[in-house]
Amino acid sequence: MLKMTDLVSIARSLFAPGKGLLAADESVHSATARLASYGIATSPEMRRQFRDLFFGAEGIEQYLSGIILFSETLLEKGNDKKLFTESLLARGIVPGVKVDLGTEPISTSPQELITQGLLDLPERLVTYKEQGAVFTKWRAVIRIDGDHLPTATALHENAKRLASYAKEVQTAGLVPILEPEVLYEGTHSRQRARAVIAETLGTVFSVLEEHSVDCASVILKTSMMLSGSESMKKDSPGEVAKDTLEVLLENVPRQVTGIVFLSGGQTPEQATENLAAIARQAREVDVPWPLTFSYARALQEEALSVWKGKEENVSAAREVFLARLAKVSAALA
Ligand code: 13P
Repeated sequence: MLKMTDLVSIARSLFAPGKGLLAADESVHSATARLASYGIATSPEMRRQFRDLFFGAEGIEQYLSGIILFSETLLEKGNDKKLFTESLLARGIVPGVKVDLGTEPISTSPQELITQGLLDLPERLVTYKEQGAVFTKWRAVIRIDGDHLPTATALHENAKRLASYAKEVQTAGLVPILEPEVLYEGTHSRQRARAVIAETLGTVFSVLEEHSVDCASVILKTSMMLSGSESMKKDSPGEVAKDTLEVLLENVPRQVTGIVFLSGGQTPEQATENLAAIARQAREVDVPWPLTFSYARALQEEALSVWKGKEENVSAAREVFLARLAKVSAALA
């Protein structure tokens, strides 16, 4: 039986073979935009049904070790009248929570973003833990634009907040997932993405060391190395895997519990094929960490287009979701 006080065991449990994470932690603002893009008008009840569509699908525990929730979901119940946190845990799926409060422009570089949410974090962590969260996530957003973005200030300030977040979370007895997301959007080359992600990760881990963060229970959530979505260049999965693993091996300490990937706006098929190539090459070069997925869009997109917010489409949408989960899980094998 897993001791929920042992951070390293909890962090490792998220990397159970063939399993990964569903990121279902869209804020009210992001969930509203996501649902609207499928023609679904949002309301608190519609957001609850959106979560139930995925969490209520029978058999997800075969593929999911954990689900990242938005704070409002910690208090909500599924259609079965049970708290989502309890029904997930009963199926062996560990609930986590997004604890950052979104981003705002950096005053000295207004095209770039800094993540908010440190001020009242200790108090909120106590509450989230009482409400059943076992791990947490903080997302920093890094934008590439030509050679001038990101600035060193954006990288450093976001890294400092990731380090403060990690420290607070470990003190509260929860596992931190650090997500310095380098955006896929842009016209940049894969080589430029590679250089920026390398610099981002290098900055994050050197600041973590300055703050004496124990990396043994830290999970890194990273972007893959891809040519920008508006670059007109399609990378082969082999190229993505090679660059991704080289950057990780050069910049991520061995002690880190494991690495999860975000999908970042890739199509479900692209995110699945790239993960498969990364997993295959990772075995060949024998990387020191377990790797898995922590996708939002690539796992939800197909189901949302079937669902359209309608009760009569729930079972067909869940079938599509399970089929994608099976493919993403198979990509790890
Ligand atoms: P995507 O997989 O849609 O990039 O989302 C992952 C995530 O957690 C973003 O914060």
